Amino acid sequence: MSAAPAPVPVSAPASAPAPVALDVREVAVHFSGLVAIASMSFRVPEGEIVSLIGPNGAGKTTAFNVITGFLKPTRGTVLCGGSDLTRLTPERIAALGVVRTFQRTSIFAGCTVLENVLTGLHRRGRTETLAALLRLPGVRAETQRLRATAAEILAFVGLAHRDGELAANLSYGEQRLLGIAIALAADPRLLLLDEPAAGLNPSETEAFMGVVRGIRDRGVTVLLVEHDMRMVMTISDRVVVLNHGRIIAEGRPEAVQSDPEVIRAYLGQGVRHAQG
Ligand SMILES: Nc1ncnc2c1ncn2[C@@H]1O[C@H](COP(=O)(O)OP(=O)(O)OP(=O)(O)O)[C@@H](O)[C@H]1O
Ligand SMILES: [Mg+2]
Repeated sequence: MSAAPAPVPVSAPASAPAPVALDVREVAVHFSGLVAIASMSFRVPEGEIVSLIGPNGAGKTTAFNVITGFLKPTRGTVLCGGSDLTRLTPERIAALGVVRTFQRTSIFAGCTVLENVLTGLHRRGRTETLAALLRLPGVRAETQRLRATAAEILAFVGLAHRDGELAANLSYGEQRLLGIAIALAADPRLLLLDEPAAGLNPSETEAFMGVVRGIRDRGVTVLLVEHDMRMVMTISDRVVVLNHGRIIAEGRPEAVQSDPEVIRAYLGQGVRHAQG
């Protein structure tokens, strides 16, 4: 009973680290005088929902802009599948399967719901679009395949019944879901969601949580920025807490939630945010 446990071999499967979808290493972002991110390192394990939380201005959207190539960091690297994303264009990064939604919805209001998703599907491969332009043989079948895929994505997010509606006529909550559907159309391996539940009522948020879990269950890794703490603490596998451009805590939701520094820096305010 008192014998010391045998040392676990380094190669034991139980101790093998999960494959990493994203490895953010010592990223810093300075905007002239302002330090938006002082130094940030964290990993997103494959197949998990990881949330990046923190007060307004903490640097969350800036981190998303760096990961997706919209902003070159002052320092640091972002590794994904052997590539350093800080050296690639947003288009190349999206082609690698790193896809984002924006803090404010970006949908084509004058197009139907289905057309919005089709637009996202066309971003998957230039050849499909080119073939359509040149009216090459097989385009009709290809068009039907794309429409079927779009319909499947709409069913997944719960918007199948709205497919022919103009996007402008959707409720705010439905527009947020359409934003997710457009992002899914780009076939992400890693999906970055910037405040997807902002402005949603509790029942819409509940439905949204189911969609985000469903995305993870399809094998897509999710990096989530969200102020709704109930959503974050319920669906996240890991939580990373940013404050003034620095990571002050990271770990399982239960551990982060009870971390005194996190409570001091954010969660007190987070409760006000959620009520306000
Ligand atoms: N393009 C920019 N030029 C100058 N400063 C910027 C720029 N983008 C962001 N900042 C500043 O960097 C800091 C981090 O901003 P960021 O938008 O990343 O915060 P956030 O954590 O996403 O906040 P929120 O929760 O309000 O969305 C803020 O002080 C912001 O004003
Ligand atoms: Mg933001």
